[in-house]
Amino acid sequence: MADKLYYPSPEIAKNAYCNNMEQYRKMHEKSVKNPGEFWGEIAKQFYWETPALEDKFFSYNFDLSKGDIFIKWMEGASTNISFNLLDKNVKSGNGDKVAFYWEGNDPDDYSRLTYRKLLEEVCRFANVLKSKGVTKGDRVAIYMPMILELPIVMLACTRIGAVHSVVFGGFSSDSLAERILDSKAKILVTADGVWRGEKLLLLKTICDEALGKIRKHGHVVECCVVIAHLKRVSCPPTNKADTGKTNGVNGASDRNNQELPQIPWDDDRDVWWHEEMEEVESRCYPVWMNAEDPLFILYTSGSTGKPKGVLHTTGGYLIYAATTFKYVFDYHPGDVYWCTADVGWITGHTYVVYGPLANGATSIIFEGTPFYPQNDRYWSVIDKYKVTQFYTAPTAIRSLMKFGDDLLKKHDLSSLRILGSVGEPINPEAWLWFYNKIGHGKCSIADTFWQTETGGHVITPLPGATPMKPGSATFPFFGVLPEILDEDGHLVEGEGEGYLVFRQPWPGMMRTLYANHERFKSTYFDKFYGYYCTGDGARRDADGYFWITGRVDDMLNVSGHLMSTAEVESVLTEHSSVAEAAVVSKSHHVKGQCLYCFITPNEGAAFDKKLQDDLKKRVRDRIGPFAQPDVIQHAPGLPKTRSGKIMRRVLRKIAAGDRNVGDISTLADETIVDVLFQLRPKV
Ligand code: PRX
Repeated sequence: MADKLYYPSPEIAKNAYCNNMEQYRKMHEKSVKNPGEFWGEIAKQFYWETPALEDKFFSYNFDLSKGDIFIKWMEGASTNISFNLLDKNVKSGNGDKVAFYWEGNDPDDYSRLTYRKLLEEVCRFANVLKSKGVTKGDRVAIYMPMILELPIVMLACTRIGAVHSVVFGGFSSDSLAERILDSKAKILVTADGVWRGEKLLLLKTICDEALGKIRKHGHVVECCVVIAHLKRVSCPPTNKADTGKTNGVNGASDRNNQELPQIPWDDDRDVWWHEEMEEVESRCYPVWMNAEDPLFILYTSGSTGKPKGVLHTTGGYLIYAATTFKYVFDYHPGDVYWCTADVGWITGHTYVVYGPLANGATSIIFEGTPFYPQNDRYWSVIDKYKVTQFYTAPTAIRSLMKFGDDLLKKHDLSSLRILGSVGEPINPEAWLWFYNKIGHGKCSIADTFWQTETGGHVITPLPGATPMKPGSATFPFFGVLPEILDEDGHLVEGEGEGYLVFRQPWPGMMRTLYANHERFKSTYFDKFYGYYCTGDGARRDADGYFWITGRVDDMLNVSGHLMSTAEVESVLTEHSSVAEAAVVSKSHHVKGQCLYCFITPNEGAAFDKKLQDDLKKRVRDRIGPFAQPDVIQHAPGLPKTRSGKIMRRVLRKIAAGDRNVGDISTLADETIVDVLFQLRPKV
């Protein structure tokens, strides 16, 4: 079943930017053989204050044995991203076009921003940043819900050359503090709080906890700008006393008679967004940035447990985000595009903010969850806005499949043309449900493989050209040259499986890890000289299709969120009753993978329900709710080699209940394997 081909419908192919495989192959060949010419033509569609020199269009070294690793595109050219995303669209007559529809957690809350209004708001906030002393190169931390101010803050940073560092609003105060400290952010932008379904998240309270921790480490965030969001939106029905029907976003009136919790405040540091925005001008001249100047930092989990600050730069990221968006979603004027990802992750950066705006697109920013107020919220939003491209994650698809098809029948989904999937491998069953039930067998599905580090899609079908296979990300995007290597670094030609690596850079790939170039080199370029190592495994089938097989390092992918085993283990072992902890992944029908933790208690400490609950809560509090372990198992000992290394492959088998553990003769104590199987909880 998985190898059956699904061809793009003729209606999609007819108008697509790339509408047959021959065209794809020609374009791909040119893009990898002559990247300067290929991307040079694309770059001409944007405004450059100083154009790129042809002979300096790009340079790189991927081979550690030949010296330092570097990647440069259009060095010497200068531009400004907000100018290209906003001023250019306004000047070309798109000022009144909607850039973003905003759909709140509560269906009664909605709003919109045109390109002209977005430009004005961006300029205003850029002036606020300037008034707080933020200048080119300064870092601005952002901890916000999915509201219209979020892209405004990001683009205001780009207006003046400040580097934004968005931290996902579901992260704990510890995770936020760690990220602010690493980037030494000067300023933090947040909101008082946000409703997610029926849950209230007090973001400003979390920020205050984080800022307290940061101060103890000797860093001071000079200013915290707070958006009064809670007062202007409705609360869930179970909580609200009386709400109006007015559109909440631009009228910050107190709609809810309900008492909201006190927001902590420091007069010397904290300022309200609406007060600051009143006093500034709505024009701000852009700062021209070198193509290789930093644009943003985005943290991703690293296998040592310490997050990695992935750094993206200006020129290459702009043209790559724009080009992948255009071709992979085949965006045409009049389309309404919706990506459900939170802007706190790379998908939200590239495919909620930068890619769509670079194409003058109209898209949706959604604050809520798929399950509120009912489990058909996604389908009702698609119907309401007549969405043409819908981009979401396999975990969301799997969680919605289980509600059956009746909910779907209440909504008209016929506007859809292209469906996208991202974040983890999509199982064929979920792919087929997406294809048949959501796309009614006429939409193309783009299973997009990429990473925070790659900046944009790197292996993906093109909707008007690529025959699809359920579960395969298919072929490389323009500029991308994937290879499969075996353990010894030999190329796997034709059919085969191994490590997924890339041979040469494309414009949107990361340039380094912020303030840690050594870690950049050792993480991505040390295993196989001459290649960027993704950390994923892949298989190439007889037709040349790529199938991503999952992480080959100590990373876990829970509901599309990457985390490292070391990160979770270090939180668990901090508990006074825990001597040792080992964390592995176990497959999960909705989340893809879940966390399975083996715990060796200290002498005399009880392994009881209380300890299990304590440990789950600790991981939630220290990392974030998405990291909560599903299983905590008692482990009087761990399977270790004689040199003391934990054999995780054995633990994975125990977690899966698979007695087929393979060779365990190198274990110091083989009997522990049986003990662990006996203690395995019924899950
Ligand atoms: O393991 C791959 C998986 O997600 C990892 C990247 O995670 P992150 O940097 O958080 O970015 C997620 C959004 C781009 C990859 O190393 N992954 C992502 N997309 C896919 C995928 N695995 C299989 N198929 C995909 N389409």
